[in-house]
Amino acid sequence: MPEPPLENIVLIGFMGSGKSTIGRELSQLLGYPLLDTDALIVERDGRPIPRIFAESGEEAFRDLESAVLADLHAGGPSHRVIATGGGIVTLPKNRRLLRRLGYVVWLMVTPKAVLRRTSRNKQRPLLNNPDPTGTISRLLEERTPLYRETSHLAVETDSLNFPEISAGIIESARYFFGRSK
Ligand code: S3P
Repeated sequence: MPEPPLENIVLIGFMGSGKSTIGRELSQLLGYPLLDTDALIVERDGRPIPRIFAESGEEAFRDLESAVLADLHAGGPSHRVIATGGGIVTLPKNRRLLRRLGYVVWLMVTPKAVLRRTSRNKQRPLLNNPDPTGTISRLLEERTPLYRETSHLAVETDSLNFPEISAGIIESARYFFGRSK
């Protein structure tokens, strides 16, 4: 018998795409607990993210993302909102795990909005360099096909407001979960 699909809503997308804000909104509207892979990594490793990058490197951080996703999948939690780090889609095994966790929603964002939303926060090691604009364009270009192939739904975040986005996601998720029973 195939495993029943987990009924989580999984948010993916670039840094500054609104995953945490929309995650909080969805969590309130649905009454589902919000989990965040970055927070689970910090809890598991004991170091803040910039220190993990500085002391152990990006590859070690990606392995921690895989471990957290594997735990989430093994724990079988359903009816959660799961917000993820922007680079979680870079490893193929993470892309497979994400889709097995539930309904995967890609929050699309333009480079301009990313720059606007991330410029004041220095907690993102990948953008803490002399050319964040160039880094954003390069990473967005590399990751866009990965977000596309991993997601069940892609949502524009530039023109709509967050409550409108959340309402749209809930409607599509209900349809998706209804169909997969
Ligand atoms: C990263 C995004 C961050 C965090 C880490 C690496 C990335 O999460 O996981 O700094 O590679 O895009 P947010 O997308 O929540 O900022």
